[in-house]
Amino acid sequence: MQLELKAQVEALQPHIGRPPGLAVLMVGDNPASAAYVRNKERACARVGIASYGEHFAADTGQAELTQVIHRLNQDPNVDGILVQLPLPPHLNAEALLYEIAPKKDADGLHPINLGRLVRGEAGLRSCTPAGVMRLLTTYDVKLEGKQAVVLGRSILVGKPMALMLLEANATVTVAHSKTQNLAQLTQSADILVAAVGRPSYVTAEMVKSGAVVVDVGINRVEGPAGKARLVGDVDFANVEQKASLITPVPGGIGPMTVAMLLYNTVWSYSQGSKASYNS
Ligand SMILES: NC(=O)c1ccc[n+]([C@@H]2O[C@H](COP(=O)([O-])OP(=O)(O)OC[C@H]3O[C@@H](n4cnc5c(N)ncnc54)[C@H](OP(=O)(O)O)[C@@H]3O)[C@@H](O)[C@H]2O)c1
Repeated sequence: MQLELKAQVEALQPHIGRPPGLAVLMVGDNPASAAYVRNKERACARVGIASYGEHFAADTGQAELTQVIHRLNQDPNVDGILVQLPLPPHLNAEALLYEIAPKKDADGLHPINLGRLVRGEAGLRSCTPAGVMRLLTTYDVKLEGKQAVVLGRSILVGKPMALMLLEANATVTVAHSKTQNLAQLTQSADILVAAVGRPSYVTAEMVKSGAVVVDVGINRVEGPAGKARLVGDVDFANVEQKASLITPVPGGIGPMTVAMLLYNTVWSYSQGSKASYNS
């Protein structure tokens, strides 16, 4: 997919006269966030997107960040803006998200873009569920008429995921922490997407034979010798025996999320001055 985007950037650049630009705002010194930001910047470089990363001290205020976002909204070199989460507790991440111009909302999480998803209109899609959809298409997983179960109903993953599967004509059920008889529900799923944030929560008994299992979860657990390692929401070793397709953690949806961030940035770049997407 990165090669595809690189080719697209090379084709568009002579007409637009500049490369696409992505601004990632990071506040504080969370090492995991710093690693994610570096990863995004490297991925940008691979496809020819210019990074306009800005790093702020942990005590930076809401008003200063809001001003930065307003400046980037007006910057003609910047096509995508995102605020790396989590933010220090004194900052309101949602309020900052609302300040990003919808056409530069590289994460696809602004209410205008979520509204476009609900309405089935073209627009910037939330990166993680869009990455899941791209992976399912790449592996030629048929969704129409299939039973899809989404575990988790967050605005970041579960809800937009359910809408995207619905848009693809799957019959979708969304489960959450108050769902009863969860295993019975998941056993009916042809496509099971896990986004709960609980290590190895989905066991083989919960999965139908031949199901497609997508593991969105990223959980840091203590491994052998006390070393931290990342695991998903699915008990991979056992579910792998039953599933027809399964995504690994690490790998799988994490890299697809970054790929969709690049895709969104290039999409905004390609929309340029189109009036319909100028809000
Ligand atoms: N791969 C990626 O790039 C990527 C991107 C984003 C997130 N993630 C990972 O995906 C996971 C979910 O992220 P998130 O932001 O959606 O998390 P979140 O906001 O904490 O939401 C978790 C969801 O899971 C539900 N849940 C919790 N315990 C449950 C249980 N026992 N049974 C059924 N449902 C349960 C919650 O239900 P309630 O609504 O009832 O509380 C909630 O809807 C995390 O591990 C996160 O790190 C990965």
